[in-house]
Amino acid sequence: MVPGPRGLPLLGSLPDFGKDPLGFLTRLRDHGSLVTWRFGGKLCVFLSEPDCVGELLIGAEEHFDRAELGVAFRTLLGNGVVVAEGADWRRKRSLVQPSVRPKQVKAYASTMVAEAVRAADGWADGRSIELRREMSALTQRVAVRTIFGTGKDADVDAIGRAMSVAQQEIGAEMSGLGALLPSWMPTPGRARVRKAVAVIDREVARVVAEHRNEGSGRPDLLSRLLVAQDETGARLTDEEIRDETVTLYIGGHETTASALVWAWTLLSANPDVHASLTRELDRVLGDREPGFEDYEKLTYTQAVVKETLRLYPTIWVISGVAREGATVGGRRLPAGTRVWSSPWATHRDPRWFRDPEEFRPERWAPPEGTEAEEIPEYAWFPFGGGPRVCLGARFAMVEAVLVLAVLARRFRVDVHPSQLRPAPKLTLQPDREVWATVRGRKG
Ligand code: HEM
Repeated sequence: MVPGPRGLPLLGSLPDFGKDPLGFLTRLRDHGSLVTWRFGGKLCVFLSEPDCVGELLIGAEEHFDRAELGVAFRTLLGNGVVVAEGADWRRKRSLVQPSVRPKQVKAYASTMVAEAVRAADGWADGRSIELRREMSALTQRVAVRTIFGTGKDADVDAIGRAMSVAQQEIGAEMSGLGALLPSWMPTPGRARVRKAVAVIDREVARVVAEHRNEGSGRPDLLSRLLVAQDETGARLTDEEIRDETVTLYIGGHETTASALVWAWTLLSANPDVHASLTRELDRVLGDREPGFEDYEKLTYTQAVVKETLRLYPTIWVISGVAREGATVGGRRLPAGTRVWSSPWATHRDPRWFRDPEEFRPERWAPPEGTEAEEIPEYAWFPFGGGPRVCLGARFAMVEAVLVLAVLARRFRVDVHPSQLRPAPKLTLQPDREVWATVRGRKG
């Protein structure tokens, strides 16, 4: 293993990491393949090579524990599938999976398109929009409607506002000194999370009760969760249902919104790519809105999303804590070592990607797609991999492709300025509001 930065006594490299997490991880990447460093008092190893990343992801269940996720995260997600471990995680994953399998995603596609059309109807040539708010509102409505099956504005707003407060605190806790505070210590941020979670609990309990009263005929995700049974025939309890619906909401909405914001920003800065995208939309869709059956045909649009997730992987770090006997790259890791990988650092590594800083969807799409075949497995891992691979990967890809298709068919989005700095919080977001002017394509 290669020794990385020495850092400070007690704090290790935490201050350097906190100042510029992405730059710090990129520098670790350039140090070598298994780099040791300290985060607070904890021994860490950073992996950047795809083979090692694959070992971490594939071994996630057997050899690594979940990294501590922070108090705010746990308060919000309870013991949902993202947080759970061992037999509890296996049971929950098997109960949640049917609600996001491809057949179900097909059923959610019409909601995704309907919400994108609703957003498009609110846009007009020359209108100024703030993209983060716009995309977040859109994916939030898709999440609330597909998960809870409700479209009432009051529900959406109350749940959405409370989720945003909790998410902000989680982001602050993850990248700052808050990560070092003991979990019992009361802080203003933790109090804000508890208050927000009380609102979420109340709203979710109300929607669950409604569903139970009305029976299970609805086409939403919550209805699927309510009927899911494990091998003993047992169902999820109300508390577990609450944890899983909040997990799916948090896992699904801000991640996809961030990906869409970056996609628009990159399209605005790369007019040639935008032109190729609209050529595909005109050819495949003509004058109609897309449906689920168009997803497979929209290969260039899919490549735009994949390339966006390469340059701006919304989950920018994936980590685990080594158990006794865990190895990576042929090296045995001391139990308790925190093992880090970063889609950001690996996705921009010139060893795996030609011109890694360039936005070139062609690398994923035929006919010039031969480059895609040269990219090693686990060099691109925005959805993780192995047994804990993102449960919503298909959902997210279909949503991002259909939303882009609806909006880009009608509009161009001019982002100004188009060079934005990423802020690594809970997800990788631009560090400020993103203002853009909408231009009607035919106007
Ligand atoms: C662009 C959008 C998305 C990205 C980049 C993304 C990324 C990820 C990543 C990297 C993981 C693995 C984390 C780890 O191993 O520590 C993950 C897990 C997960 N994601 Fe996503 N995700 C996205 C959208 C979604 C959506 C739409 C949903 C739900 C509908 C979802 C639900 C989940 C769940 C439940 C897990 C936990 C799986 C487990 O631990 O077994 N995600 N996601």
